[in-house]
Amino acid sequence: MNDKKITIALSKGRIFKDTLPLFKHADIEPVEHPEKTRKLIIETNQADVRFLIVRATDVPTYVQYGAADMGVSGKDVIIEHGGDGYYEPLDLKIANCRLMVASPIDEIDEPKKLRIATKYVNSAKKYFAEKGQQVEIIKLYGSMELAPLINLSDRIVDLVETGNTLKANGLKPTEHIRNISSRLIINRASMKMKHQKIKEIMNALEEAVTNKSQQK
Ligand code: ATP
Ligand code: PRP
Repeated sequence: MNDKKITIALSKGRIFKDTLPLFKHADIEPVEHPEKTRKLIIETNQADVRFLIVRATDVPTYVQYGAADMGVSGKDVIIEHGGDGYYEPLDLKIANCRLMVASPIDEIDEPKKLRIATKYVNSAKKYFAEKGQQVEIIKLYGSMELAPLINLSDRIVDLVETGNTLKANGLKPTEHIRNISSRLIINRASMKMKHQKIKEIMNALEEAVTNKSQQK
């Protein structure tokens, strides 16, 4: 970890897009857009703040090991990662969606022991264990909607926002596991060592989240 700089891990795509206005409120703006550059370290208008561009699922790992001081990560990813080594002080209320069980629209009989395809193995295990339902979990890394269509699984556990992806693949949401949004996460050691600057950024982000929700 660089001693002076604040390093912030973000992923491209929807999280970056939704996070930018929040960091702008904290007077932190990237000098280049990650979709327009191949660079993975992006400097900002503040000489002591930089962004790292990493895979969404890797953000907690960079923050856990202190390779980044802070990061923005979906609660779905945080649950799967386990949450070790960092604080989760702020719900940024962006990339909002729901973690759900989905079934084929035309399912007739419920099989005795369900096979569930998902990349959210921990969340799925916990959900069905709490229901006292024995299931077989099949780990996939994406395109979960395909699994029931070709009899790899009976159901899936996946994120749902509009429901369009499920619908397009002949599936329907059946059980709501939990709401998902993106969270600010902060390395435990950085929180102590760089407390003043981190607190400043956290306060500005919190204010941006509050302002946004009051505008709605
Ligand atoms: P990776 O690049 O590691 O495979 P990914 O493709 O899941 O990750 P994104 O699709 O950008 O990355 O998703 C990042 C985060 O956005 C997810 O962890 C989740 O919290 C949230 N998210 C995913 N899908 C939706 C959706 N349809 N609507 C709203 N938020 C979503
Ligand atoms: C996510 C999720 C669903 C889809 C749900 O995928 O895995 O497939 O969004 O959104 P909807 O309910 O609005 O259709 P994403 O678009 O992130 O693609 P991915 O498979 O690359 O993660």
